[in-house]
This record gives sequence, C-alpha cells and structure tokens, in this order.
Amino acid sequence: MGLLRSYLRKKAYSVKESPVKSSTQFYLNKVESVISIENLEEAEEDMNKYYLNSKWAYSLFHTHDNFHHFALCNGKVVKREDYETQPKLISEYIEKIKAKNVLELSSGQGANSYYLANKFPDTHFKAIDLIQTPEEKVLKLKNFQFQNGDYHDLSKYRENSLDLVFIIEALCHSSTPKIVIDQVYSVLKPGGYFIIFDGYRRREISELNNLDKKILTLSEHAMALNEMFNIVKFNTLLKSSNFEVSKSTDYSDKVIPNLIKLEYLARMYYKFPKIAKLVNRFISKEVVQNSITGLFLRTLVEKEITGYYGHILRKF
Ligand SMILES: C[S@@+](CC[C@H](N)C(=O)[O-])C[C@H]1O[C@@H](n2cnc3c(N)ncnc32)[C@H](O)[C@@H]1O
Repeated sequence: MGLLRSYLRKKAYSVKESPVKSSTQFYLNKVESVISIENLEEAEEDMNKYYLNSKWAYSLFHTHDNFHHFALCNGKVVKREDYETQPKLISEYIEKIKAKNVLELSSGQGANSYYLANKFPDTHFKAIDLIQTPEEKVLKLKNFQFQNGDYHDLSKYRENSLDLVFIIEALCHSSTPKIVIDQVYSVLKPGGYFIIFDGYRRREISELNNLDKKILTLSEHAMALNEMFNIVKFNTLLKSSNFEVSKSTDYSDKVIPNLIKLEYLARMYYKFPKIAKLVNRFISKEVVQNSITGLFLRTLVEKEITGYYGHILRKF
C-alpha cells in the first residue's frame, strides 16, 4: 500500500485528448457497464458512510498529508505543496489581524488545523466536524482542541469571541448555508474574518443538455452532495448577509491539474471493465462511485458548469 501510494504520488499525470469534445458519452457507457447508477441518479448518498468508507481511497488516490480537499495548483502538474494553498492563504489573514482564536468548521482529518497550529504556536485553534475526527498527532497539539459538532449550531462558542473562522469544501453539504453564515457572524469578533473555499454550480440545470445534466448530478451524488450551490445565488446570499465581502476569487483553473490526475486514475479503472467489476466486490460502494466524479469533474469545470471559489468575508 505504501509503495503504491508513493508511486501514484510521484507520477506526472496527463490526459491528452480533450474529454470535453469526445469522451463523455463513451465514459458514461463504461460507467453503466461497470456499476449500477440508478440509485445515484435519484438521491443523496449517505454522508456518514461516504466519509468513513472513502478515507483510505482519499489517502491513496487523492490527497497528501490527510488534506481532504482539492489542490489549488501553481503549475501544470499537481504537487504536494498545492494541497497547502488553502491553509497558506488562511495564514495571511491570521498574520494580518494577529488572530489569537481560530475555528475550523468541518476539519475532516485535521490537516488544515495541523498545518496552521504548527505555524502559529501562539494562536489557539478549535475545530468541529460532524463525522470525522482528526488524527492522533493533531489531537496531541497543545494549541488545538476538537469537538464533534454540526456547523449549523455554533452556540457552544461565545458571541464575539473568535478572530477567524474558516471552512474548506464542506459548506457544500449544507442546504441552508445562510444558517451557517449567520452563526459564524455571531461568534466572530468585529474585524474578524470568515474564509470559505468550495465548489459550486456555475449554471442552472435547466440550461444544460441531458448528457451534462446526467454527469453533473451523478458526480454530485457520488461526492455525497445533494446538489452544489449555484455561485450566483451564493454571491447574492453573501451580499445580503451582515458580512462585507472583502474578496471573491475564482480558482477553477487552479484545480484542473488535480482533476487531470483523478481523471487519469478513473480512466485506468474503467479501461478493463471485467477487472473493475471484480474489484468492486471488495471495495465499498462509496469508493467505486467516487470514480464517477474522477471521470467527469474536469469536464464539468472546463465546460464552466461547475467551478471552485474562495470567499473572504469580514465582520465590521
Ligand atoms: C471534503 S471534507 C473536508 C475536510 C477538511 N475541510 C479538509 O479540507 O481536509 C468535508 C467534511 O465536512 C464534514 N461535514 C459535513 N457536514 C457537516 C456539518 N453539518 N457540520 C460539520 N461538519 C460537516 C464532513 O464530516 C467532512 O469531514
């Protein structure tokens, strides 16, 4: 497992022909020949099972150092340090306001808080997550405290008590992000920042052809999402909130090298359907289905159907 992980991480990934033009229907047929997608077309997957069962696959195929998010890449090929782009950007705001109390919502395996708590030993980091618990090494840090919890209810934190709150690729699981935004507003001190990184739909489903509709909903459900929030609606929601939007950045291009890697790996899996079917017997449904996202997410981003954004909000 260790050797395989190291090989997969060192490899330079490229997928030469444009998936946008030719291969979407071809790969959708492959998917249908290997796995049963009826349930995925209908409903949201079980998020608990998704995160608990796909932990090992995330670590083997997707991320480094237990970051459970996409790398924002500075070059054409995804590198280890590209997974640190989000916590590095958050660092700038911790430095700017000399934040002493920081809260991470949905910390997953705790990689972001681990990175930041080591970088800022005099700052106290708190984190909550609904399902996952950080690794032992994170829990042992002196300036870090974890609690299981739902980001829709932050009443365990005092009002006006935190300097900075951040969330990476997890607000997409909420169907009522306004509740989370209002909760964060009340626990932040005046002058504090709320930083959000996430994926969004860029177009309405009614604007899409049937094939794009299908790969979008399959990919969302395969990531245990009901549906991604629309970026235009999200920006409107932010503008109507109490926060001032200091900065919005479209990072969609920066996520592409990571998506190329996932597309490459997913195509390998579907190259030999008979072997894939055999493998399916031994791995969980959630991991198998995740290969669908691997196959199609690059196409969805390149066609500007979905995108990846960062928002910096400030409480005044
Ligand atoms: C894609 S992972 C991101 C983990 C982490 N932010 C990172 O960058 O490595 C999404 C996380 O959101 C958590 N989550 C989903 N819904 C949540 C909720 N209502 N409250 C708190 N955490 C939630 C999941 O348990 C999961 O750990």
